[in-house]
Amino acid sequence: MPRSDILIIGSGIAALTVAYHTCKTYNVTILTKGALKSSNSALAQGGVAAVVSDTDTWQSHYKDTVTAGCYHNEEALTKYLVKQGKEEILSLFKKGVPFDIDRAGNLLLGKEGAHSLNRIVHAGGDATGKALVDFMSERIKGKVRIHEHTMALNLMKKNQRCVGAIARNKEGELIEYSAQHIVLASGGCGQLYTHTSNHSFMTGDGLAMAYRAGAELVDLEFIQFHPTMLTLKGATIGLISEAVRGEGAVLVDEQGRRVMEGIHPLEDLAPRDVVSRRIFSCIKEGRTVFLNIQHIQNFKVRFPTIAKMCSDHGVDLKKGLLPVSPGMHFHMGGIKSNLSGETSVPNLYAVGEAACTGVHGANRLASNSLLEGIVFGKRVAEVICSKPREQTKSENSLRKETSGLLSISLPAKSEIQKMMTNYVGIVREQSGLQIILDWFESMISPLLFQPINVNNFTNEQFERLNMLTLGYLISRSAMQRTESRGAHFRADFNRKDDRKWLKKQVAHNKQVNL
Ligand code: SIN
Repeated sequence: MPRSDILIIGSGIAALTVAYHTCKTYNVTILTKGALKSSNSALAQGGVAAVVSDTDTWQSHYKDTVTAGCYHNEEALTKYLVKQGKEEILSLFKKGVPFDIDRAGNLLLGKEGAHSLNRIVHAGGDATGKALVDFMSERIKGKVRIHEHTMALNLMKKNQRCVGAIARNKEGELIEYSAQHIVLASGGCGQLYTHTSNHSFMTGDGLAMAYRAGAELVDLEFIQFHPTMLTLKGATIGLISEAVRGEGAVLVDEQGRRVMEGIHPLEDLAPRDVVSRRIFSCIKEGRTVFLNIQHIQNFKVRFPTIAKMCSDHGVDLKKGLLPVSPGMHFHMGGIKSNLSGETSVPNLYAVGEAACTGVHGANRLASNSLLEGIVFGKRVAEVICSKPREQTKSENSLRKETSGLLSISLPAKSEIQKMMTNYVGIVREQSGLQIILDWFESMISPLLFQPINVNNFTNEQFERLNMLTLGYLISRSAMQRTESRGAHFRADFNRKDDRKWLKKQVAHNKQVNL
């Protein structure tokens, strides 16, 4: 059985940051479902929010973060995020991350929704995630064992502690990876929905695995839809960064009417949940929504990735009207973890989008996600490095070859996506939530009470098992939260209810004997 000091599941910015800060002294293994650079982080466009301008303060970034988060944020950790952000981003800039600069060498700062001033550091115009992923991947090369095309299926536990993971490699072999520290940095779950900006690998595997291992999951009802995905003939093609609105683009309908006027004081730069709901309701009324980019100078230079996506799909940039609709973008909820990244299962850490530290509250502020991966990735690395090192010892196989759930009838991925989109999407209500809960319960109960025999399920079936498990838990959380807050909007409880819900979390924790 391969043994490491640190086993990292996932390869986005949070995973790479943990590896980067530990690989000089520790034996580190990364397991990733696809190629190393196939992640949501690599797709991130707009940038990283950080207080690097002299006119900015951490207090201002904090205020914007908790206002967008509808005061559901965990205060101490949110302060940690915005205070540490400056140091980490400047340090990466000094080490060579090619952030965009002006002629004098100063960082160029963009603007995005719900930020009170320009504080978005970016690279390659609109390819910030790629620049960071390329930089980190280069630095860890040769120092970390990187097992690509290897899907982690289940966590392994011994004496209540996490001791590793069972994974299937590209040859189809099941391998038990044991480690002293296991870090889940497996990203989000956008694939639970029909329309998403997420990578095709994002099926919520980390959260479902953590749940099966008895870790606590919280805030699952808070699903962020990005307002502006390029949309052609009903299909969402890819993200159009919020930074485009930061440069002056506005949302209009087919008659040229501004759709955000009178909806929120920040209009087109209102928090994402507000803009997404507005576009969603315009589309329901039969209107088409466009991003009007006519007033942006040098669009192709400032946003080369988006310009290429548009021209690849036959959208004429000269007309300056890009058809858009919302798509699932980010999960604020996840595996409950503290400032040290520790979860409720000893030796198991969670970081990045898979984690819920509470820093995003009920709705993440734009460009705080790469920041989270960088800041908390480093923090988890420091915590791990401060712990006494265990002697490497080989474990006996922990896999129960013959026990556990052998088969289950699984709906198609597209069916799960359709149900989630219809009933746990941008707007929810009790009757729809009851329909989806009944649907899930008709097929899911064995999943929740029995261990799973990994031998009997293909990777693709595992993805659907994970989607079902997580979709069910998200739906339960959405049913339980009888208020509207941030990205969780209930048509039947269309206001915040601070008396009942302020800072209250819906939690799920099921102890399963793995
Ligand atoms: C964007 O560029 O609009 C996405 C960045 C983010 O998710 O914060």
